[in-house]
Amino acid sequence: MRPQRRPRFQELDAMGLPEERGRSGSESRGQEEAGAGGRARSWSPPPEVSRSAHVPSLQRYRELHRRSVEEPREFWGDIAKEFYWKTLCPGPFLQYNFDVTKGKIFIEWMKGAITNICYNVLDRNVHEKKLGDKVAFYWEGNEPGETTQITYHELLVQVCQFSNVLRKQGIQKGDRVAIYMPMIPELVVAMLACARIGALHSIVISWNQGIDLWWHELMQEAGDECEPEWCDAEDPLFILYTSGSTGKPKGVVHTVGGYMLYVATTFKYVFDFHAADVFWCTADIGWITGHSYVTYGPLANGATSVLFEGIPTYPDVSRLWSIVDKYKVTKFYTAPTAIRLLMKFGDEPVTKHSRASLQVLGTVGEPINPEAWLWYHRVVGAQRCPIVDTFWQTETGGHMLTPLPGATPMKPGSATFPFFGVAPAILNESGEELEGEAEGYLVFKQPWPGIMRTVYGNHERFETTYFKKFPGYYVTGDGCRRDQDGYYWITGRIDDMLNVSGHLLSTAEVESALVEHEAVAEAAVVGHPHPVKGECLYCFVTLCDGHNFSPKLTEELKKQIREKIGPIATPDYIQNAPGLPKTRSGKIMRRVLRKIAQNDHDLGDTSTVADPSVISHLFSHRCLTIQ
Ligand code: PRX
Repeated sequence: MRPQRRPRFQELDAMGLPEERGRSGSESRGQEEAGAGGRARSWSPPPEVSRSAHVPSLQRYRELHRRSVEEPREFWGDIAKEFYWKTLCPGPFLQYNFDVTKGKIFIEWMKGAITNICYNVLDRNVHEKKLGDKVAFYWEGNEPGETTQITYHELLVQVCQFSNVLRKQGIQKGDRVAIYMPMIPELVVAMLACARIGALHSIVISWNQGIDLWWHELMQEAGDECEPEWCDAEDPLFILYTSGSTGKPKGVVHTVGGYMLYVATTFKYVFDFHAADVFWCTADIGWITGHSYVTYGPLANGATSVLFEGIPTYPDVSRLWSIVDKYKVTKFYTAPTAIRLLMKFGDEPVTKHSRASLQVLGTVGEPINPEAWLWYHRVVGAQRCPIVDTFWQTETGGHMLTPLPGATPMKPGSATFPFFGVAPAILNESGEELEGEAEGYLVFKQPWPGIMRTVYGNHERFETTYFKKFPGYYVTGDGCRRDQDGYYWITGRIDDMLNVSGHLLSTAEVESALVEHEAVAEAAVVGHPHPVKGECLYCFVTLCDGHNFSPKLTEELKKQIREKIGPIATPDYIQNAPGLPKTRSGKIMRRVLRKIAQNDHDLGDTSTVADPSVISHLFSHRCLTIQ
């Protein structure tokens, strides 16, 4: 439910955070706080989590955040000391221009400092921190029982071998290596081997008979020592093509030094990492979440992780929780789409497993509707695990808005507050910063170390996409609301906003109202041309098992939306959608749904659709008349 607006504005400090008033998170812990005065309910961090947390209170978070934004060079400079640098940064620690009217956009952290990210996440853990025998990954295949594990020492040996293989193939620093592999330890090995020899990895493509070679044949002959290639902190580390949910994919370029600092630091604080943790991020390594929180972030911290090749519904829908119990997973990170999928099957597949090891749960990738948040919290986390709803992008390298488990009182559906070094603002259409309670464009005012540096081969596209609309700011492309307590709520991509008779509605808000109905597992809403309203709502709904699509259900859904949001949001079309077009990372492709609603078969680039067969099904079952 949308919290009521209050007629008063609250004072914000320089970083867009509310000044602390009344009870702080550190004083009211481990309990649900009622939504008095129309406020969304909030959950304070459980005392047992706060007690041992790196950041144990909201007060401490505020102090650290203030310093990170006011003194970014000193804040990140201290963190940089924890890494190995062959040569320290000889010049300014940070230089940048965010303003297109003043010249070329550039961001440089620690330029001239020399390091190697693979050396930092492997050699140092093995040789200096003596973690050689610690398990880096428990690998679990799609078939239960298919498992292996790999220690830090074994990982280092394999990475050195594969680095030698790559060098023997003539790969040199600055070359680009495309990798196409399933979720197996060899994929991590291949990425790190590229990083070790200074080649850029880009994870894509299919087998090519003429060019491709067999892993085991090459590895047999390779030596197991390999001197790293020493790189500038600003040398490129990898290229990752964005999912293409809104247009032609862009090659996002991240660099060695800043990315290393940022993913290591976000991993440590956002998951409140401790040495005994077993971490599990279910994301595919081919996506940024996998790069940052399967590979680089956990390894930089010397963590043990689960690497899962399978899917959450095989051999049955309790697979995730059986794996949690098997490896005693303490921190679990997944996408709202997976949570909604599993919610459809009820509580029993979850509760039949103990899950007693779980301490922190996370989500990423899209707004999590409060319904799914509450289920995740109540059923999966048994009401004792904080949920970190992490907002970020391929472009940002790591988390941007997120709770910290021991410090931040949570509100279901809100990514809460900015991470260290992040200065958010909300702008109106004219580019003015809005204070207090407000809704508009989410932008960032200054660089953080993990920000992308360019679009591969097209710097102009980088400037146009992220910096032209509002000079002086990085523009996320997301809409956002800040509530009376200073919490940030992502309302969805700006291109996903709907304008019905002059009223702006966010797709996330309508979808959230739909999935609150017990029959609906997932919903996607798009705008559709309407002669009177300008735009009307066309909704696609996926039903839970055991429910049938009927005129009665359509009426109930319309009523639900009228009650939750208002009559203006009443949909004109509701289509039954047994499946929705999604990218392989689980993001709903609303661009494609908009075309389906209009019976427009000119779909543009659909190379990233996970299951193209759902598109033809939806075309052939379109709603032809207003319901
Ligand atoms: O719209 C936001 C949504 O996902 C977009 C970034 O997608 P991608 O680059 O594929 O990266 C996904 C993994 C970081 C954002 O612009 N998004 C991501 N996380 C959240 C979110 N929307 C709301 N809440 C989130 N926690």
